[in-house]
Amino acid sequence: MLRQPLLLLARSERVKKLVSTMPVSSGIVSNYVPGESTEAAVAAAAALVEDGLAATLDFLGEDTLDAAQADATVAAYIELLQQLSEHGLARHAEVSVKLTAIGLMLSGNGSGHKIALENARAICRAARNAGTTVTIDMEDHTTTDATLAVLAELRQDFPETGAVLQAYLHRTEDDCRALAHQGSRVRLCKGAYNEPESVAFQDKLDVDKSYVRCLKVLLNGGGYPMVATHDPRMIAIASSIAADVGREKGTYEFQMLYGIRPEEQKRLAGAGETVRVYVPYGQEWYGYLMRRLAERPQNLSFFVKSLVSKK
Ligand code: FDA
Repeated sequence: MLRQPLLLLARSERVKKLVSTMPVSSGIVSNYVPGESTEAAVAAAAALVEDGLAATLDFLGEDTLDAAQADATVAAYIELLQQLSEHGLARHAEVSVKLTAIGLMLSGNGSGHKIALENARAICRAARNAGTTVTIDMEDHTTTDATLAVLAELRQDFPETGAVLQAYLHRTEDDCRALAHQGSRVRLCKGAYNEPESVAFQDKLDVDKSYVRCLKVLLNGGGYPMVATHDPRMIAIASSIAADVGREKGTYEFQMLYGIRPEEQKRLAGAGETVRVYVPYGQEWYGYLMRRLAERPQNLSFFVKSLVSKK
């Protein structure tokens, strides 16, 4: 019940200033974000690969209204991809990209759509050169159509590009049907933003039911489903549907966030499943951290203690 108030509070500039000055090394931040530099991201990916896991790395940032910032984000991804290749990690580590971090909201010289598409193409080209792939994260519902439109164009040149769909949106079962085709990588998550009831299920049970319906569509389809959840019930249901429809392990994968249920990540990998861990890094960790706290209010007291004790 704390989720919506927390996500609203996260939009306060005062709260943002207070929280953003915490060091990344402080317990609550480093639980979810391994560091701010490319080196920290590569080291985290290497440690996961060592444990038999795969990774998808996200250079943190979103909602940029500054073209130079969007360019800097593209440059950061290109540097990361080169580093992954040089460290021999590209076969097991891809990248996740938010289109609002690379210009989707920009206006002026050319539309946000055009800028985000060109920037995403540059990242996809660098990923292909490195021997890996890109997944386009999904953000709040005001960007869903724009994100899927950019993805469709991107896939003409880079069909390996992954999509993300959010089970909390009413529209998502239909979007799953549209994307469940041969060669289509689709990450299914529950959804992390504060959405109105006109577009999204509000009740956790309704979100879970939608997640299961979407799983059925994706696992019965011809694409490569990426089952992104920490929920033990959803994981068990996905495994059971995959077995029922005769899917071999490795024709789909599980995904979880860095720092969340690491033992379960290793257990699934040990059982022969492909498990990919989403690793966010960089200085812009505020929005990401607040979404994780909103999902897990149990962490709030720990968080408040870190704030009070910050230097
Ligand atoms: P939910 O939050 O309902 O939790 C269900 C159960 O999972 C809990 O009861 C508990 O058992 C377990 N659990 C959850 N969090 C835990 C924790 N911190 N510690 C221990 N147990 C925990 N969202 C989005 O809108 N766009 C996106 O692009 C992405 N991308 C993405 C990638 C990947 C790899 C993942 C895993 C998730 C995303 N998400 C996302 C986030 C997603 O939408 C969702 O907000 C979170 O995954 C939380 O939802 P769960 O499915 O884990 O279940």
